[in-house]
Amino acid sequence: MKLIISKDYDEMSELACRMYIDEINKNPEIVLGLATGSTPKGLYKRLIAEYKNNNIDFSKVVTFNLDEYIGLSEEDESSYRCFMNENLFNHINIKSENINIPNGKATDLEKFCEDYDRRIEESGGIDLMLLGLGEDGHIAFNEPGEYLNTCTNIANLAQSTIEVNSRFFESIDDVPKTAITMGMAGILKSKKIILMANGVNKHKPINALLNEKRVTTKLPVSFLRIHPNVTVIVDEKAYRGR
Ligand code: F6R
Repeated sequence: MKLIISKDYDEMSELACRMYIDEINKNPEIVLGLATGSTPKGLYKRLIAEYKNNNIDFSKVVTFNLDEYIGLSEEDESSYRCFMNENLFNHINIKSENINIPNGKATDLEKFCEDYDRRIEESGGIDLMLLGLGEDGHIAFNEPGEYLNTCTNIANLAQSTIEVNSRFFESIDDVPKTAITMGMAGILKSKKIILMANGVNKHKPINALLNEKRVTTKLPVSFLRIHPNVTVIVDEKAYRGR
């Protein structure tokens, strides 16, 4: 596992952006796994700027998002689809048919999950997966528990995640309690993984990831230790806890 410590959020976003430019230029047909949330916003902002300066071309890039809330339509401002459109897709030349985001309104959710994994396989698999990190150690919506799911599945959000994510909703009661999420195998099958984490709230899971030697379902991010190609980019606050 490669660790990069950046001085702050901006530097973390800039370093990640440089890596994405390299990877996309090396392989214009790259299949990307993408995350939502506060962490990747700075990276997405920079990718848009680089696209506008003709430094990257997304015309052949394929994307698969990690997760989506169940029950929210694509138009809902709190949906991850809407987040991705506003923070990245609406501003770059990606083809709409190359964008894949779980459909939280699918009539048959179980079937949707199976099809999603099949679509990832058919695309040749994810070349570069971007992960944020939950304060409780979750990746995507794989929450700490007795077991973790391998395939794309319907997940119950941990109460602490509902509380943390309520900042994106009018009230905590509006936060969906369930989501479609890629499972652990879906994530770990990616050829390369970049995990980003910033701020003191991420210190606990980052510290555990970097310093403990075990994998445990109580800390889903710990499974990244068994992946051969992971780069962790953190800011000083997440690294030091202050
Ligand atoms: C979002 C996702 C989540 C977030 C995590 C951190 O697509 O998969 O696991 O990456 O909850 O969220 P932020 O970045 O808002 O701290």
